[in-house]
Amino acid sequence: MDSLPIIAFVEKIVYTATGKYLNLIQKQIIFGTMMDKSYFTIAEEIGYSEGYVRDEGSKLWKLMSDNLNENITKANAKSRLRSWEFPEGSPQLYLDHSHYRNSLQNSILINNYNDVNIAIYQEQGQTSSVSGSNLCDLSQMPALKLCLGRVQEIYLLEQAILTHQLIEITGLIGVGKTTLMVQLVDKVKDNFESVIWRNCSFYNSWRELKLELIQIFNNNQISEFEQDNLNYKLLSYLKKHKCLLILDQCETLFQEGQNAGIYRSGYEKCEQFLDYTTNLEHQSCVFFVSNVQRKSLAKQESSYLLKLSGLQESAKEILRIANLKQDEKWSLLIEQYGAIPLYLKIATQSINTLFNNQVSAFLNYQIIPDDLEDILLKQWQYLSKLEQKIMIVVSQEEQEITLETLLHNLSEHPSSLFKAIQSLLRRNLLEKREDENYCNFVTLPIIKQFINELVSADS
Ligand SMILES: Nc1ncnc2c1ncn2[C@@H]1O[C@H](COP(=O)(O)OP(=O)(O)O)[C@@H](O)[C@H]1O
Ligand SMILES: [Mg+2]
Repeated sequence: MDSLPIIAFVEKIVYTATGKYLNLIQKQIIFGTMMDKSYFTIAEEIGYSEGYVRDEGSKLWKLMSDNLNENITKANAKSRLRSWEFPEGSPQLYLDHSHYRNSLQNSILINNYNDVNIAIYQEQGQTSSVSGSNLCDLSQMPALKLCLGRVQEIYLLEQAILTHQLIEITGLIGVGKTTLMVQLVDKVKDNFESVIWRNCSFYNSWRELKLELIQIFNNNQISEFEQDNLNYKLLSYLKKHKCLLILDQCETLFQEGQNAGIYRSGYEKCEQFLDYTTNLEHQSCVFFVSNVQRKSLAKQESSYLLKLSGLQESAKEILRIANLKQDEKWSLLIEQYGAIPLYLKIATQSINTLFNNQVSAFLNYQIIPDDLEDILLKQWQYLSKLEQKIMIVVSQEEQEITLETLLHNLSEHPSSLFKAIQSLLRRNLLEKREDENYCNFVTLPIIKQFINELVSADS
C-alpha cells in the first residue's frame, strides 16, 4: 500500500492536536515503520542517533494513542494504521497545502551527511511531469531534510525571487546551500509555471546541460536542426514562461589550481547565459549555487548574492540530536568549526564513537576527523600555489591579518597578491573584516589547524 495516505492521515491527527505539521523525522519514522524498519535502521538512514529517533517515535505514538483512543506502539502501528480504509490518493486526507504530495515524496527518502557530493535523488518513474501548464523536473533535487535555523535566509530569498532574475548562493562546502535551496523550492515552487533542478556535476559541458534543459522545455523533442544558438533558445523559454531553474554544484564549472571563477573548457558560454539572464526582461529566476562565487557578479546589478555562513544558535541542535553530553565546551567546538553543519555532523560522529559523547575529551586531543580532513584536503588541492602561500601565512597568525602584513610576509607583486586574495574570498576560505582604517582577513580555526598540520607534516 502507498504510505503517503497513511502519513497524511497521521499528519492530520498531529496537526489537529498540536497545530504543527509533521517534521521530517516523524515522517521518516512512519515511513520506516510501514516498511518494518527498526529504530536503529531508520536512525542510520537519516543520520541521527537511535536514542533520539526512538524518543521522537514514542512521543508520536503517544500522541496518536491519545487522539485515537487506542494503544498505538511501534510494534502495532503498521497493522493499526493499515486497518483504516484509505481511498488511495484521496484528496480529503491531505492537509490544505497544495504541494503537499510532492513534499512528502521528497521527505520520505533516505539521506545522510555523506550526500555532499553523492546526493540521493528522488526515485521517480518519470524524470519530468507536466500537469496543465506546470512542468516540474526535480529528479536531481536531493530529498527534503531537517533544516535548522535559516529563517532569515529563506525570507531574504523569497523577497529576492520577486525582484531578481539571477540569484547566486555561495558558501563553504557543507555550510548548507543545497539544504537551504531544497527548503526554498518546496516553499515557492507553486508560484512558477516550470521548476527544474539540475546538478552541474553530472554534465561534461554547458552544451550538454543546455540541450537537456531545452529538451525538457520542449517536451523531449529537439531536432538536429535546432541545435544551434542554444543559449538564445533557453533564454526564449525563460522569457515565455515563468520558470524557476536551479543550477546546483556549479563549482564543477570552474577550473582547479587557478584563481577561482575561471570556467573550464566547455563551460565558458554559461557565463554568457547568466549575463543575458540578468539583462533581458523576464519573469523567470535562475539560481546559481556554488562553493565558489562567480567573478563577474559584482558588475551585475540585477543579480542577488547570498553568502551563506554557519548556523547560529541552532548549531547546538546538531550536537543535541547526536546525543552529545552537555558541557562547557560546546560553544568552543561550534566556534572552531564555524558552525558549519557538515563539519559539526562529522565531528559528532567521532565524538560518539571515540569519546563517549564528550565534546571536551574530543577537543583535548585536537584531532581533525578523517572525513573532514578529506574534504579540507580536496579543497586545498584546488588552490593555486599563491593562494596556498597566503593561506599558510594567514594560518600562522593567531589573530586577523592585515593586507600590509600579507604584502610584507609574502614579497609578491601586489597585483598577483590582490588577485589571489580576491580569489580566496570568492572561495569563501577567507573572510574580510573591515575596521575604520584597515581591511583584515580571517579563516576558520579548524581550517588554520588543518593547514598548520599539513605544513608541519611536509617540513
Ligand atoms: N540548516 C541545517 N540544519 C541541519 N542540517 C543541515 C543544515 N544545513 C545543512 N545541513 C546538513 O549539512 C550537510 C551538508 O549540507 P549541504 O546542504 O549538502 O551543504 P552544501 O550544499 O553547502 O555543500 C548535510 O548533511 C545537511 O543535512
Ligand atoms: Mg551542495
